[in-house]
Amino acid sequence: MVVHTDKVSLSSDLLSRRKQNEKIGFVPTMGALHRGHLSLVKNALKENDCVVVSIYVNPTQFDNKEDLKKYPRILQKDIQLLQELSGDILLYVPNNEDIYGEKVTSAHFEYDGLEHQMEGAHRKGHFDGVGTILSIFFDIIKPHSAYFGEKDFQQLQIVRKLVQLQKYPVEIVGCPIVRENNGLAMSSRNKRLSEKEFEEAAFIYKTLQKVKRKFPTTSIKKINEFVKEQFLHNSYLKLEYFEIANEQTLVPAKHKMKTNKYRAFIAVHCGKVRLIDNVPLN
Ligand code: PAF
Repeated sequence: MVVHTDKVSLSSDLLSRRKQNEKIGFVPTMGALHRGHLSLVKNALKENDCVVVSIYVNPTQFDNKEDLKKYPRILQKDIQLLQELSGDILLYVPNNEDIYGEKVTSAHFEYDGLEHQMEGAHRKGHFDGVGTILSIFFDIIKPHSAYFGEKDFQQLQIVRKLVQLQKYPVEIVGCPIVRENNGLAMSSRNKRLSEKEFEEAAFIYKTLQKVKRKFPTTSIKKINEFVKEQFLHNSYLKLEYFEIANEQTLVPAKHKMKTNKYRAFIAVHCGKVRLIDNVPLN
């Protein structure tokens, strides 16, 4: 595995690979890698000649300073995990200057309204930051395909829209959520949970599974009330939002229509850690 810490050396490495007609995959991450990330890298290695993995905690997508400060950073462990995979990996670990130059600011993006729902409504500027960093990465790396986990389903749809609107010649590949044994969706933030919190956080996916079972026979209004009620008396978990939304538009649904695909989306605070999850419903 080659490690690049600046875009000049990464670009020149990629240029020589492009000259040899190599297919380049890309897996953007913020590090603290877990099995979810590794499954993205494995998928990318299967479908490409080489894979760029970026590890960069992007400051412009954090609306909360404390969350940015506390985001787990364990680069040596991450390098070790990537080295255990067999395949041609180029690791890109830039610093703020390499990405942003002197001014760490984000541009403003519109994604046909996808940005106003759920995470967009609760984390001000988050998808501006995500659009900014991914545009910078796509310009430097020019990958043939890029891999994103469905845990951040809204991000996945927004990246698809970004690529369509900005006409980036990159295929966006969505990959299924990888879960802990207790059902909790894998996330770098899980590393900040205490043992007890980790155990209690399993309740999130258990609730989503109940929602999935109820969906065919219960109205959306009743399901929304059911979920609120479930979290009301839970002293470990504080519900931030729960929505059943159209998978394409991400607009929360009031009634079911047979022709639409729906997903349940949830954000919950477990102590100081914010967790999100989602499941397809039909
Ligand atoms: O999903 C993430 O980890 C981040 O939002 C991403 C895509 C690496 C951009 O910083």
